[in-house]
Amino acid sequence: MDTIVGADRFALTASGLVKRFGGRRVVDGVDLQVPTGAVYGVLGPNGAGKTTTLRMLLGIIEPDAGERSLLGCTAPRDASDRVGYLPEERGLYPNMKAREAIAFLGALRGLDWATGRKRAAVMMERAGLGDSVDSKIRKLSKGMAQFVQLLGSVVHEPEFLVLDEPFSGLDPVNQERLEGLVIAERDRGATILFSTHVMAHAERLCDRLAIIAGGKRRFEGTVAEARGTLPMRAHYVPHHPADAIAALLPEGAQRDRDGGGWTFPVPPEGVEETLGRLIAAGHGIAGLSIERPGLHDAFVRIVGNAAAEGTPA
Ligand SMILES: Nc1ncnc2c1ncn2[C@@H]1O[C@H](COP(=O)(O)OP(=O)(O)O)[C@@H](O)[C@H]1O
Ligand SMILES: [Mg+2]
Repeated sequence: MDTIVGADRFALTASGLVKRFGGRRVVDGVDLQVPTGAVYGVLGPNGAGKTTTLRMLLGIIEPDAGERSLLGCTAPRDASDRVGYLPEERGLYPNMKAREAIAFLGALRGLDWATGRKRAAVMMERAGLGDSVDSKIRKLSKGMAQFVQLLGSVVHEPEFLVLDEPFSGLDPVNQERLEGLVIAERDRGATILFSTHVMAHAERLCDRLAIIAGGKRRFEGTVAEARGTLPMRAHYVPHHPADAIAALLPEGAQRDRDGGGWTFPVPPEGVEETLGRLIAAGHGIAGLSIERPGLHDAFVRIVGNAAAEGTPA
């Protein structure tokens, strides 16, 4: 088993990962460094190359170029028993009982059956699913079955957890359960890597994130850094809304749907000059608020820029 220097700081490192399908580079030189103990998001639109990247990181498929190291192993499969994985395509044996399905997934990662069954019952109880411990998978709702599969991916207490679009297909109750599970796993000491195209979860959970579009990494940093790629936005409400106001606002101003106010990007020099112009013209200030755009807006901008560069996003 090869080890690399700095493997304790980063649970996972990858550089220059490339994967071609039918001559198309669907992953085109992706770098990734996931700090040990972090919750790390891989964000990107459908078809961006997220699943292909995760599969290469886990050694399920081999990259055409590039290197990776998972928990210090340059052959990721050597770390298999220390890793948990929820694949994008879900599925459990319909005739297994929930606790057996969980124990079964644990056994595939080297956990003994009795311990798996015991832990499964405790985990289901903790997640509020205690009544379904002995229910067959086919009797469970789709969201519940997916959550059971998720428990199966952590029952062997992995050091590294990879979840591919874990929120998709879950109702709001199970989405919240999942967020709770991610936080509990992090608190246990696990490093977590998950992919998503839903920004709200990423915004709440991620310590760091990478945005992938068109097979390339377009951004890497914290949620705050991603949001910081966009200027602050001001929302202004005049005493007397009038069409003439638009000409006094910075470029990119948008009128509210109800016509009562405007939103505009805060210029680098601030809003004072703009407000001065509005007051001088007699429009007054009935309301003013300034806020940082959310991760969703930053994501749309970063992915949109990637598409405009001509790379299919
Ligand atoms: N086994 C495969 N054979 C051919 N094309 C594939 C295969 N797997 C994925 N692709 C293509 O690669 C691109 C990226 O897919 P994927 O990694 O699943 O993206 P994401 O998970 O971000 O939605 C898509 O265009 C997809 O159709
Ligand atoms: Mg995918």
